[in-house]
Formats: sequence, structure tokens, C-alpha cells
Amino acid sequence: MKRLEGKSALITGAARGIGLAFARAYIAEGAKVAIADIDGARANQTADDLGPAAIAVEMDVTRQDSIDQAVETTVSALGQIDILINNAAIFTAAPIVEIERADFARTLDINVAGTLFTMQAVARHMIERGGGGKIINMASQAGRRGEPLVAVYCATKAAVISLTQSAALNLIEHGINVNAIAPGVVDGEHWDGVDAFFAKYENKAPGQKKREVGEAVPFGRMGTADDLTGMAVFLASSDADYILAQTYNVDGGQWMS
Ligand SMILES: NC(=O)c1ccc[n+]([C@@H]2O[C@H](COP(=O)([O-])OP(=O)(O)OC[C@H]3O[C@@H](n4cnc5c(N)ncnc54)[C@H](O)[C@@H]3O)[C@@H](O)[C@H]2O)c1
Repeated sequence: MKRLEGKSALITGAARGIGLAFARAYIAEGAKVAIADIDGARANQTADDLGPAAIAVEMDVTRQDSIDQAVETTVSALGQIDILINNAAIFTAAPIVEIERADFARTLDINVAGTLFTMQAVARHMIERGGGGKIINMASQAGRRGEPLVAVYCATKAAVISLTQSAALNLIEHGINVNAIAPGVVDGEHWDGVDAFFAKYENKAPGQKKREVGEAVPFGRMGTADDLTGMAVFLASSDADYILAQTYNVDGGQWMS
């Protein structure tokens, strides 16, 4: 018995990386999935590769008209939205004295406002429909504590953990469960970007930071996007009906809470 049979999911930032792994896992569990991403060409390619259970939606989570349009397109193509994963985010790093206001604003806009207002738009749809739903927000171990070079990204992920708690307490009366996943270090294009920041600010060779963080994970290696899919399927399934407001660490033992 597939665990997400008959369900439809909207996943932001799903053209690549963790969002793509979630989409693949949801389809394997019987769901239909909207691959929503600011990179429309890549979203199209990804949806084509995933086959008939996937559609592509070009979406910028910083624009309200784009959020509303993505919800509308997904509902008209897939019938409804039972599951939302707020996965789109960007990473940034700089010492405190070099943080630029524009970079701060852009990162907050995508990681925090994008999460809040996509959650709001989908919650309105779920409430109107009356069938409840599941919302999963992508936090990070970076939201659990600050890091010397990562103030802005850490702050956005701490905000995602807080928003998850408040939204969960507010939306459970409508049968909507809101939870979050906090990955540790996950290999992929995102971490290639992170590695480049550390090469610049810590004067490391390309690839060195990535190697070091992987070796420091108690499990013994960096995570892969597929390491996270079990939790994403569980939180979207009826097995998680009594769970809300939680942020689950899926990080090879990096963080204990
Ligand atoms: N990779 C890691 O080590 C790691 C660790 C902890 C948390 N996370 C979180 O997991 C999530 C996925 O990470 P990933 O590694 O797959 O990242 P990624 O950079 O590979 O993918 C992010 C996707 O979001 C899209 N995106 C960016 N801005 C957008 C916007 N304005 N509107 C819509 N889409 C937009 C990008 O085009 C990209 O496809 C993120 O929330 C990230 O912060 C990642």
C-alpha cells in the first residue's frame, strides 16, 4: 500500500537537490507533484524526467502574484493541494562587518517571507477545501545556533523554526499539520555554493570545507538528499496526524534535541 496514494503535493525549489529527491519519493508513494521553482526551464526538465505524475510550475516565492498563480495552477492541474513543502531557499555568508543590507533583505525575502506567504496561500486553499493537509518547512541545523560567518542564513532558518511552531498552533484547528525538517550538511549544488563562501572567507582550497564538514558528522559522511526522504514521506502521511509544531533533525547525529 502506497502511503501518499491520491495525494497532491506542491514543492517549492524542487527543480534540483533536496526538493527533487522529495518529489521522486512522493511519486514513488503514489502522489502527484508540482515542481515549483524560480528556474522555470529546469523545473520543466525535472518534471519531464519524473514523468506524468509531475507538473512544472515557474514560481518566485518572493512575489505574491507568483505564489497565488502557483497555487491556482497546481490546484487546476492536480485537483487539490494536500501537502506543501516550503523548500526553496538561498544560502549566504559574510562576516558581520561585511553583511550588505540588500543581501540580508533578499535572503529574508526568499527564506522567511517566501515560507510564510506560500504557507498562507496554501493554508487558505486547504481551509476552503476542508480536508486538512500537511505542511513541511525546510529549516536547518543552522537555525539551531549561530555561526560566525553565517549570521543571515542562520537567522532565516531560526525564523523558519519559529514560524513552523506558530503556524502549527494556529492551523491545527483546520486539520493542517505544520512541521519542519532540519538537515545537517547535504551534498549537492547548494553545498558547492557554501563551499565557495568558505573558500573565500576561511582561505580554504575548493572542496576542503566540504571534506571537513563531512568528516565531522557523527554518522561519518555528509548527508544525501535521499537521506531526508523518509522523514518527508512520514510527515506527509497519516502516520504523522498527531504531530505538529516539531522540527526534526535529520543530520547524521549533528544536533541533539
Ligand atoms: N544542502 C544542505 O546542506 C542543506 C542543509 C540544511 C538545510 N537545507 C535546506 O534544504 C532546502 C533545499 O536545499 P538544497 O540543498 O536542495 O538547495 P538548492 O540550492 O540545491 O535548491 C534550492 C532551489 O530553490 C530554488 N529557488 C531559489 N530561489 C527561489 C525563489 N525565489 N522562488 C522559488 N524557487 C527558488 C532554486 O532555483 C533551487 O532549485 C533549503 O531550504 C535549504 O536551506 C539544505
